[in-house]
Amino acid sequence: MKRICVLTSGGDAPGMNAAIRAVTRKGIRTGMEVYGIGHGYKGLIEGDIRLMNIAHVGDIIHRGGTVLKTARCEEFKTDKGIDKAVENINKAKLDSIIAIGGDGTLKGALELVKRGINVQFIPATIDNDLGYCAYSIGFDTAVNTVVNAANGIRETGMSHDKTTIIEVMGRNCGDIALMSGLAGGADAVLIPEVKSDIAKIIDKIKEGISRQKKNSIIIRAEGADISTEELTEEIKMGIGEDVRTVILGYLQRGGSPTALDRNMATLMGSEAVRLISEDKPSTAIGFDGQKVTLVDLKIADNIENKVRADLLELVMTLA
Ligand code: F6P
Repeated sequence: MKRICVLTSGGDAPGMNAAIRAVTRKGIRTGMEVYGIGHGYKGLIEGDIRLMNIAHVGDIIHRGGTVLKTARCEEFKTDKGIDKAVENINKAKLDSIIAIGGDGTLKGALELVKRGINVQFIPATIDNDLGYCAYSIGFDTAVNTVVNAANGIRETGMSHDKTTIIEVMGRNCGDIALMSGLAGGADAVLIPEVKSDIAKIIDKIKEGISRQKKNSIIIRAEGADISTEELTEEIKMGIGEDVRTVILGYLQRGGSPTALDRNMATLMGSEAVRLISEDKPSTAIGFDGQKVTLVDLKIADNIENKVRADLLELVMTLA
């Protein structure tokens, strides 16, 4: 009987629970023993390994967060930490690890693979910053959360004739800002990957004001090259009107996952179990919008993430 384990690591993302559910139930029903690791790689180092049953993952498909808990683990970036984790994996006689998380989790998975551990990786991060796959679990929910917030901000902005800057997550990747800007009908978007053109944004807002549109919405990713405070001041000065600021923060990481995130998580979780049952090598599992995709885990981290910078222009054209 195969013994497998599942962990969630790094920032939580809505849909992680659906992936844990799929792995646990498909694993058990395929005749495997499934273990859950608490707090990601930290739990692997500390030996926080517990046997899962079918009921443990009941009533979680619709919940954000992760029932296994998660952590950002500095110790796992050291040889000593990784060696301790490998020791625990071998002590528990685990045949394979299913790691669910973002780029830090993928790097950690690669270290385990280098030490001979079989790892199946499932991408889950609201940032959508993994180059080897089009979508990561949680991204769609986060974008919908931002769009819902933008809808409300648009209404009050319209009533009070106010321009609003919305700061969204994304230290290195502008995908949340771009896709929520497009879906939310923003007037401009600022992302970390592209130098911001503040004069152009001010002209755009002024053009709106000249046709009685006084509630422009600007979406700024947290990693953009100008801070929210500076941007607010520059726009205030530029348009000669007051500007409001909303920082959405952690509410983007919570919430019930969308159907897309749940289904992606379910398909990828189930694929991870299939790969293990067929003794396949370590794989980075992905999703292309319709179906699951597979990439050798050893090369997945080297595939550059490409941002749709052309959409910045489209957002402004349509505003
Ligand atoms: O998980 C991704 C993310 O939400 C990023 O968008 C954000 O920059 C970061 O995590 C915040 O991380 P922490 O909660 O550790 O400060």
